Amino acid sequence: MANADAKLAIITGAGQGIGEGIAHRLAKDGYSIAVADINDETAPKVAADLVAEGYQAKAYHVDVAHRDEVFALVDAAVSDFGDLAVYVNNAGIAFIDNFVDSKPEDVERLLDVNLRGTYWGIQAAGKQFKKQGNGGRIVNAASLAGYEASALQSAYSASKFAIRGLTQSAAKEFAKDKITVNAYNPGIVRTKMRDAIDKKTAAIKGKTIPEQQADCLSEIAIGREATPADVAEVVAWFVSPAAGYITGQSLQVDGGMRFH
Ligand SMILES: NC(=O)c1ccc[n+]([C@@H]2O[C@H](COP(=O)([O-])OP(=O)(O)OC[C@H]3O[C@@H](n4cnc5c(N)ncnc54)[C@H](O)[C@@H]3O)[C@@H](O)[C@H]2O)c1
Repeated sequence: MANADAKLAIITGAGQGIGEGIAHRLAKDGYSIAVADINDETAPKVAADLVAEGYQAKAYHVDVAHRDEVFALVDAAVSDFGDLAVYVNNAGIAFIDNFVDSKPEDVERLLDVNLRGTYWGIQAAGKQFKKQGNGGRIVNAASLAGYEASALQSAYSASKFAIRGLTQSAAKEFAKDKITVNAYNPGIVRTKMRDAIDKKTAAIKGKTIPEQQADCLSEIAIGREATPADVAEVVAWFVSPAAGYITGQSLQVDGGMRFH
């Protein structure tokens, strides 16, 4: 672990999908898990599943777009479980639309959640780690769309490019405090977000959903989509002692879709 005395891992967007996978993986490594999500139905269920498996976990309500809620989340989880070891900025949203048709409210909400939410998370976790004085690990959800922007995903792609920028900037500032900051860039992970993306993309392109999915699959060298567990393994490595010399990096977890 990053800090032998700290056992708390806060994971935003952990109520389903990739975040849920990360919660289970880090629990297995001995962390107490703060299952932080805007969804008050799924997050308590994930926390209850973890507790039933013998792990320490609790659900927290947060809308990461609101800075005060993100800071309150860190305070509450630290008060429940002790020093913070890991903060995963996983929460994110996507919408699919033509550039010219994208609605202002969709663009603004997406940037509030993906970009500002990650900013507030890095800020709140960074402050807490500096206060504790013993290092820490921050991991952010970027995307393959943050390396090569996707059509129909203008705001999403821009937010993910920006998250790689935040990751590098925070890594440079925090390194002297033994805090590493890295990011994962999934390609195609079968989650509810991906189901919604496929449905809308297929509709705009005039394809069936299976056709749209087959097109994407044909781009994956390894020949299958990712699972949340594939991504969680990368996060577990980023926060492990083995990755102590790695910071400011964004790692492709895409089965060989793009080679940068
Ligand atoms: N699924 C993919 O193929 C894929 C690819 C690249 C990147 N990603 C990124 O990985 C992350 C997780 O994606 P996923 O596929 O598991 O998505 P998902 O939609 O299945 O799950 C996202 C979770 O985040 C929560 N959430 C949304 N807005 C929130 C907010 N404002 N505050 C707190 N929680 C909020 C949701 O309630 C949900 O539980 C996202 O940042 C996404 O952009 C996913």
